[in-house]
Formats: sequence, C-alpha cells, structure tokens
Amino acid sequence: MFEQKSKSLPPVLPKHIGIIMDGNGRWATKRGLPRTAGHKQGAKTFGDITAYVRDLGIPYITAYAFSTENWKRPKDEVDAIMNLLREYLKDAYRFEKENVRVHFLGDPAPLDRDLQEMMADITEKSRNNTGITVNIALNYGGRAEIVEAARRLVQDVRSGLLREEDITEEALSARLYTAGQPDPDLIIRPSGEHRSSNFLLWQSAYAEFIYMDVLWPDFKPEHLDKALWEYAARNRRFGGI
Ligand code: FPP
Repeated sequence: MFEQKSKSLPPVLPKHIGIIMDGNGRWATKRGLPRTAGHKQGAKTFGDITAYVRDLGIPYITAYAFSTENWKRPKDEVDAIMNLLREYLKDAYRFEKENVRVHFLGDPAPLDRDLQEMMADITEKSRNNTGITVNIALNYGGRAEIVEAARRLVQDVRSGLLREEDITEEALSARLYTAGQPDPDLIIRPSGEHRSSNFLLWQSAYAEFIYMDVLWPDFKPEHLDKALWEYAARNRRFGGI
C-alpha cells in the first residue's frame, strides 16, 4: 500500500488490483444480444478501467481475460474473445510509448501463432517501461501456474542452480508468471459471483476480495472508487492481531 494524495480518494490505495471480468454473457443476454457483444463491451470496459487505475497511480493491474477452462465454451465464443484480444494487442503497441508495461500470465502455446508473436513482441518492447504494469491472464489457471513453478524448481535443483534446502515460498514465487511483482492486495469480482475461479491462487493468499453486483460491461470508475473505499476500510492483519 502507498499514500494517495487526492482528497476524493481513500488515504490508502492497493498497489496491485486483480479483476475477474465476469458477467459479459449475462449483460448481452439481458439486452437480447449475442454473448460476444458482452465480451466486446467488456474489453472496452477493461481499457477504460485500466486508464483510470493508471491515472490514480496504482502501479499494477491484472485482468482475467481467458482461463484454462474457457476452452470448453462454444468455438464461436472462443474465437470472438481471441479476436477481441487480437484487436487489443494491435492497439497495445501504443503502450510502448505511453510508459505502460504489458505482461501476460498463462501458457501461450495453444493460442494462434499471430497472437503469440504479438504477445511476445509487446512484452519485450514494453519490458523496461516504468509506468503501470498491465498483466493479462490469458489461458491462465492458478493451479497450472503453481504446477509449472514446481516443475521449474525441480529442474533448477537437478541442474544445480538451486539447493533443495533453498526451496522456499520466495523461490516458488520467483517462478510464477508474476515473478518480481507485488502480490495483489485487492481482487474485485463483479457480477454477483463469489468465487476465485482459479485466479492468482498463490498470490491472493492475503488479498482482500470484493464482490460486486454490477456486470463487468457496466463497471465504471465509480464502482472502482467504491471498491477502493471498502478496501481502505478493511483491517489487514496478515495473520497477526
Ligand atoms: C467472463 O464473463 C468473461 C470472459 C470469460 C472473457 C473476458 C474477455 C474479455 C473482456 C475480452 C478480451 C479481454 C481483453 C483484455 C481485451 P462470462 O462470459 O462468464 O459472463 P457470464 O457469467 O454472464 O456468462
């Protein structure tokens, strides 16, 4: 947490916010639109909220864009989400000059080749930017991430890079997709669902969860302000008293 100077905002802000962008399908169905229209509006909301979070000076945001389980959805819906990502990535090249660092959490291997290439390229080009870090969780699962980190630990012990007695929480954290980043302090899930759905399982050990009834495409800066006030009012004890 760090001190925030604006009068209209709470005195303490999280350093890292995680967002589970839920409710896109319901938003569209309520309007008699195809579910994909909800994802389109959801992607726009993500852009708007990221800009707002950056303007507040919050240095990290992670959005759950596509889980390892989302492949079970109908092909046309998966394709539509991938196309929205494609559009987002094309636009993300401007971040290089806007001091935004873009990073992806998840296994890119099953994604289309052009998406993988753009993801690697944008990550590399924005790597040294010092403004907000935008993490996009894509083909991401928290359990899979921990398994992958465990595999890396084994490899590093086998190759002599790491001694078995040096396997610590820090050593595992350093092998997650979020290596080097602070854990999320606040995770927001809109749409009325109260689950973590395999999102940042390790990293959210001490995160504050805030569940809101608004559907993600309707999520506005005012909703974020409300969550920030609630977050600031909570008493984080990290297991102490
Ligand atoms: C969950 O809502 C949302 C998703 C599985 C996809 C989220 C993807 C985007 C917002 C677009 C691409 C992202 C970026 C970063 C450009 P749901 O479909 O499960 O909603 P429902 O519970 O109402 O059915």
